[in-house]
Amino acid sequence: MAQLWGGRFTKETDKLVYNFNASISFDQKFFRQDIEGSMAHVKMLAKQSILSENEKNQILLGLESILTDAENGKLTITDEYEDIHSFVEANLIDRVGDVGKKLHTGRSRNDQVALDMKLYTRHEIIEIKELLKNLLDSILKIMEQNIDTYMPGFTHLQKAQPITLAHHMGAYFEMFKRDRQRLEDIYNRMNYCPLGSGALAGTTYPLDRDYTAQLLDFNGPTLNSMDSVADRDYIIELLSALSTIMMHLSRFSEEVILWNSNEYHFVEIDDAYSTGSSIMPQKKNPDIAELVRGKTGRVYGALMSILTTMKGIPLAYNKDMQEDKELTFDAIDTVKGCVALFTGMLSTLKFNKDIMKTSAMKGFTNATDAADYLVNRGVPFRDAHGIIGKLVLYCIEKDKALDELSLDELKSINPVFEQDIFEAISLETCVNKRITIGAPGPDAMKEVIQIYKEYLRF
Ligand code: ARG
Repeated sequence: MAQLWGGRFTKETDKLVYNFNASISFDQKFFRQDIEGSMAHVKMLAKQSILSENEKNQILLGLESILTDAENGKLTITDEYEDIHSFVEANLIDRVGDVGKKLHTGRSRNDQVALDMKLYTRHEIIEIKELLKNLLDSILKIMEQNIDTYMPGFTHLQKAQPITLAHHMGAYFEMFKRDRQRLEDIYNRMNYCPLGSGALAGTTYPLDRDYTAQLLDFNGPTLNSMDSVADRDYIIELLSALSTIMMHLSRFSEEVILWNSNEYHFVEIDDAYSTGSSIMPQKKNPDIAELVRGKTGRVYGALMSILTTMKGIPLAYNKDMQEDKELTFDAIDTVKGCVALFTGMLSTLKFNKDIMKTSAMKGFTNATDAADYLVNRGVPFRDAHGIIGKLVLYCIEKDKALDELSLDELKSINPVFEQDIFEAISLETCVNKRITIGAPGPDAMKEVIQIYKEYLRF
């Protein structure tokens, strides 16, 4: 138990209290960011003549050596210190002597931890955005190859109207595109530097907060020192965005699971992404999709947890906020793993195009188009709806599809039908006539694919 703050205490901290309070087991995750922040702080202190050039150089060398040693395994982070901040400072003093004791001038662990957490999450946001880009790339690839792969579109999980696989995939492209944009928004909103806020009320040193912010690639310093050390909004926003990513992945997983079932058989999951059963030799289970769906609850839990932690905290810093870390780290790692694995599964997924097409041809997915055919020949839509409804009932009795009826059978229900009905309700026509932007028709789809390609260039 080594502490930075023993001065005003006459007794050792109880061991259980020490352990309960300590955060080093998890805040070592932002070890690198802690050092990066300290380096910027020291440079600023020297620029403002609070430290001499010589002191700055000694401290920077010490910090660099800690970083290198930790990275190549020469230095292990131990739980001898309560948090990563104490670990780095104590190590620095060991290495460079008394000058190391000047590192924490004009700084508190409150603004330090606020900075570290921002630096860490900011870096992770960029990584998650990159992973989402890979996912979008593989969705777009499927879209480009499947402009004319027909399948049923569903509402209420009932066959509704024919669409294409490109169109179905495009829906997910939109979702993950919004997810990426959400991450960008969060990045821009959070990108202000809290360092220099001190414990809560700033410091009496003539710090140059603009300079620190600039060194660390922030848009500027935060403008209220109390808010700076007490703000965890960006974590809540991030966990909300991560929850939304998981919700999208979970819906997608659910579809893959359904499509992979014996009943649908629309897709086949690659052997590398499925698992077997210990008892049933025939089984090939969609475990990855199921786990992604399952892990969604865990990320939602993190969001709910931080919201609840923050709701009763008076200004400014309170130790409750230490609870932001483990759950945020876990949520970030979970999302990164899920996006990467899902991308792998999706890009190796085999689509059974014939089965999808046959499925689209059955189930009366062209019934709306049949009604539209009548409307185009002067029948009011409500009447057309009724006529086609009767026709569907007739088909169910005869176990036939609408386009398998003879013209005579059609005419016996309504004389308006002519030979051109068959062309009008063919699967191809049903899709190809949907030409407005956002619809599955091939020209509209090509236009959208072009827009997506352009989007993915950045
Ligand atoms: N481990 C602490 C946290 O994560 C660091 C800040 C400690 N500040 C303090 N006043 N005890 O929040």
